[in-house]
Amino acid sequence: MSYRLAGRTVALAITGSIAAYKAIEVARRLVTSGARVIPVMTESAAKFIGPVTLSGICGEPVATSMWDPAYPGEMHVAIADAADVIAIVPATADTMARLTHGRADDLVMALALCARAPIVIAPAMHPRMWSNAATQANAATLSARGYKFAGPVDGPVASGDSGVGRMADPDAIVDAIVEAMTPQDLRGVRMLVTAGPTIEDVDPVRFIGNRSSGKMGFAIARNAAMRGAEVKLVAGPVALATPGGVTRIDVRSAQEMHRAVLDAVGEAMSNVDAVVMAAAVADYRPRERSEKKLKKQGDHTSVEMIRNVDILAELGAMRANGAPLLVGFAVETGDRDAIVGYARGKILSKRVDVVIANEAAVAFGGDENAVYVVEETSVTDIPRAHKDAVAGAVVDWVMARLKNESL
Ligand code: CTP
Repeated sequence: MSYRLAGRTVALAITGSIAAYKAIEVARRLVTSGARVIPVMTESAAKFIGPVTLSGICGEPVATSMWDPAYPGEMHVAIADAADVIAIVPATADTMARLTHGRADDLVMALALCARAPIVIAPAMHPRMWSNAATQANAATLSARGYKFAGPVDGPVASGDSGVGRMADPDAIVDAIVEAMTPQDLRGVRMLVTAGPTIEDVDPVRFIGNRSSGKMGFAIARNAAMRGAEVKLVAGPVALATPGGVTRIDVRSAQEMHRAVLDAVGEAMSNVDAVVMAAAVADYRPRERSEKKLKKQGDHTSVEMIRNVDILAELGAMRANGAPLLVGFAVETGDRDAIVGYARGKILSKRVDVVIANEAAVAFGGDENAVYVVEETSVTDIPRAHKDAVAGAVVDWVMARLKNESL
C-alpha cells in the first residue's frame, strides 16, 4: 500500500493498555508503506512498551511530555500541524472519557484538542468497560464529532474473558488510517467485485483449480470501499482478510459464483453501478462429481469436462443502456500486441466496457502487477506497481466512466 502513504505524516499516539504492543506493528506497517510516523506516548503507555522500540521503528524520537526540549515552541501544536492524520492506538476507556471532555493535561490530549487532521481511534478495553453506558455515550459523542473508530472487535482480551473490547487487528487499523486520509469520491457508488479462483471438485479429495491468489480483486474492493463505495465481494477460496467495509460472499465453484453474482446484481441488474470481474473463473467443470473417492485404474485416465456459464458474457447480454458498467479481466501470455488483441476480442464477445489485461507471469501470486486498460478504441498502460496502486488506477477509471455516463 506504499502509494497511499508515501509523503503522508501520521501522528501515532499510544495510550496505556496491554494492546499497546500491537501499536508497534501498526507503526511498522505505516513506516514500510512510506509514511512518516511521529510517535507519541503517554507515561502509562511507556509502562507497556519501550519507547526505544518505537523510536527505532519510526526513526524519530518518541514524544511523551509537553515539555520536551527537543521541540522548540509548543510540541502539541507542532505535531498537530505536521500530521495528516492522528491515530490513537490503543485508546483506553480513560482516554476516550478524557477526549470526550476536551482535557488537555497530557501530550496526547493536547494533541487531539489541537488537531486539524482527522483522528482515528482504536479502542481496547475489557468488554464490560466497552459496553458500559458511560463508554458508549463517550463513543457516540466522539463519533458525532467526527472521530473515526477502528474496532473494537469481538474476541479474547488480556484478562482471559472474551467479548467486544479487543483492539482491531493492525491491518484494519492501518486501513482506517488510510481511509481517514482518502477522499470519499465514490460515495453513493455500488460496486460488485469478484476475486480469486474457482475450484471445481472431481471427487471428495481432488479438485481442478488455478493459480489466482485473489490479491488483485481484493485490492480493488479495498480501494473502492476506502473511497466510500458500497462494495460486495464475491470471493473464491483464498486466504485473504476481508477489507474493511466490504460485504464478502464466499463461494467455491463457478456455478456458486454465478449464482452469487446474479443475486448481487439483482432484478434488472439494478442493485449495482459497476461490476468488476477479477475472478479467474474456471471455463470447464467435470461433467460429474464423484461422491466417492476415485480409485486409480490402469495407466491412463481422463475426466470429462463441460463448459461453465460465462458469467461476464451473461451480464453483458443481460444489460440494457450500458448499465451497469462491466469490467473484465484477462490473463494472457504473449507480447503487448497479442495481449491487447485478445482483450479487444473479449470486449466484443462479452459485450463489456473494458478488459484489464495482464500477463500471466506478472499477474499471478505476487504483490505487484502491470496491466493494460483496454477499451474498444484505446489502451492505457499501467506500469508495474503494487497491486494496491494498480487497483487505485482501475477504480479511477471506473469512477471517471461512471461520472461521464451521468453527465
Ligand atoms: N469469466 C466469467 N465466467 C467464466 C469465465 C470467465 O465471468 N466462466 C470472466 C472472468 O472473470 C474475466 C474474464 O471473463 O473477467 C476472462 O475471460 P475468459 O474468456 O474466461 O478468459 P480466459 O479463460 O483466459 O479465456 P480464453 O481461454 O478464451 O483466452
